[in-house]
Amino acid sequence: MKIDILSLFPEMFEGFLNTSIIKRAIDSSLVEVCVHDFREFSLNKHKKVDDYPYGGGQGMVLMCQPIIDCLKTLTTKDSLVILMSPQGEVLQQSYSQKLSLEKHLIIICGHYEGFDERIRDYVDIEISIGDYILTGGELASMVVCDSIIRLLEGAIRESSHEDDSFSQGLLEYPQYTRPYEYDGTTVPDILISGHHENIRKWRLQQSLKKTLRKRPDLIKNRQMTDEELKMIKEIEKND
Ligand SMILES: C[S@@+](CC[C@H](N)C(=O)[O-])C[C@H]1O[C@@H](n2cnc3c(N)ncnc32)[C@H](O)[C@@H]1O
Repeated sequence: MKIDILSLFPEMFEGFLNTSIIKRAIDSSLVEVCVHDFREFSLNKHKKVDDYPYGGGQGMVLMCQPIIDCLKTLTTKDSLVILMSPQGEVLQQSYSQKLSLEKHLIIICGHYEGFDERIRDYVDIEISIGDYILTGGELASMVVCDSIIRLLEGAIRESSHEDDSFSQGLLEYPQYTRPYEYDGTTVPDILISGHHENIRKWRLQQSLKKTLRKRPDLIKNRQMTDEELKMIKEIEKND
């Protein structure tokens, strides 16, 4: 996969691209990430990229020319152009899974008050990372990239994200590691029983329990198996 990011602040990506799983995925050529400063494409002699909004109002608006000229040098028939925007579809795990199958993503990060509306004509999709406003699209684009890159085959062991919260539509079951006892609390005995089927059942039941308590909306929209329905009845009976 190739990811091109258009940003006025490429330095913000240094830590992100040079740390942990993302760095390893880049080093092992699972993904190539390039950050492009679209200010360099400005035809203005002062390299201006923004201007006052027509009709008046607060803040500065990013102009079409530098962004679109930069975009044109990168776009191919395989490109999916993404605009980071609080007005976009809110990112979900299932959306990241879909995006992780793309060959080439181009992500445009806004800043200041936003974009000239005509930039949207050059974009395939808009993505939001939630209903709040950030100063720019850089952090949001890193969230999108991070959630996609960790899903690329070989980035992490596949079994580690199969059980992640949202991957199967539920929150993840409780996890424990050594020591067996910490501050008077011990690990549930079932996890050291070595009985794989009982552990699977316990984890599914715990996932359902957590999801019911913390995210009942996920349960409401879920196509339940018979086993899950039985477990939910049991959980509700005991609560
Ligand atoms: C200050 S925001 C502009 C918000 C714009 N005035 C509005 O109300 O829609 C600047 C830029 O940050 C990015 N941004 C801010 N919040 C975001 C969010 N929740 N998700 C994705 N991108 C966001 C977008 O690229 C946006 O153009």
